[in-house]
Amino acid sequence: MDSTRAADFCVRRLSPSVGAEIGGVDVRALVPSEIARIKDLFLQHHLLVFPDQQLTDADIQRFAEHFGPLEGNQVRGVDGAVLPPVHRIANVDLEGRPSANPLLKSNYSWHTDKAYLPTPSLMTLLWGEEIPLSGGDTQFVSTEEAYDTLPAATKRRIEGLRVIQSFKHMLDTLGQHDIIRADEIPPPVVHPLVRTHPETGRRGLFVANYSSGIVGMDEAEGRRLIDELLEHATRDEFIFVQRWKLRDLVIWDNRSLLHRAIPNYEMGKDRRILRRCVVRGGAPR
Ligand code: SIN
Repeated sequence: MDSTRAADFCVRRLSPSVGAEIGGVDVRALVPSEIARIKDLFLQHHLLVFPDQQLTDADIQRFAEHFGPLEGNQVRGVDGAVLPPVHRIANVDLEGRPSANPLLKSNYSWHTDKAYLPTPSLMTLLWGEEIPLSGGDTQFVSTEEAYDTLPAATKRRIEGLRVIQSFKHMLDTLGQHDIIRADEIPPPVVHPLVRTHPETGRRGLFVANYSSGIVGMDEAEGRRLIDELLEHATRDEFIFVQRWKLRDLVIWDNRSLLHRAIPNYEMGKDRRILRRCVVRGGAPR
């Protein structure tokens, strides 16, 4: 493989503010110039789709590690073991049967991965291993577009505020205590409510399903503000929908996007299996 080969991908924008499809790439065989180009496109579009990639777990890990070290997990799979760094997100039980009761219900509400850690994730990668006959989409919104389109008075009101991100809050809200041992629940953390992307300098809202309160506000006032900002960020016109095809590889920037899975498929009949890994990020500023 020629390591100086120019990166001549076919780039197709998928929505005005989020997403580009990158054709003509085999992510198992990238040269340094191509990796650099992919990183530029990642910053520009926040989310990249690479169609028809045939990947093993080792290929997934190698590709993801171009962006940084992989993050470990806190939650346990259907077999009771903590999920490995490259793991399956699936609606299947121990015998592989489709289930209408997916293990990770939190994935079906708006979130950004690992927001409850001191260093939330930089990037998430999903690869389509088994896709429902219809539906099973993932939706994304830009937290930067959300911030940019806030009224000036709201921007002033939230300047300098800090948000509490709590794994336990998500567990309590969704009634999901079976995915983690009580003594392994990470303690709540405090992050800026408006975070600045460390590479682009753009500002974005940092609220989602882990957000349990605002420092200095009583519970009800904090809840109202979080709900107001989340409702604004996830307006229909901001949503980009990833409609999965088999072997799609999707990566996205958790520093600038929220996402959620959509239960618009026959969960009790169709298997939906995505392989996933998460790249560790830095402390939000
Ligand atoms: C995730 O939240 O990381 C997975 C989303 C999905 O299953 O579509």
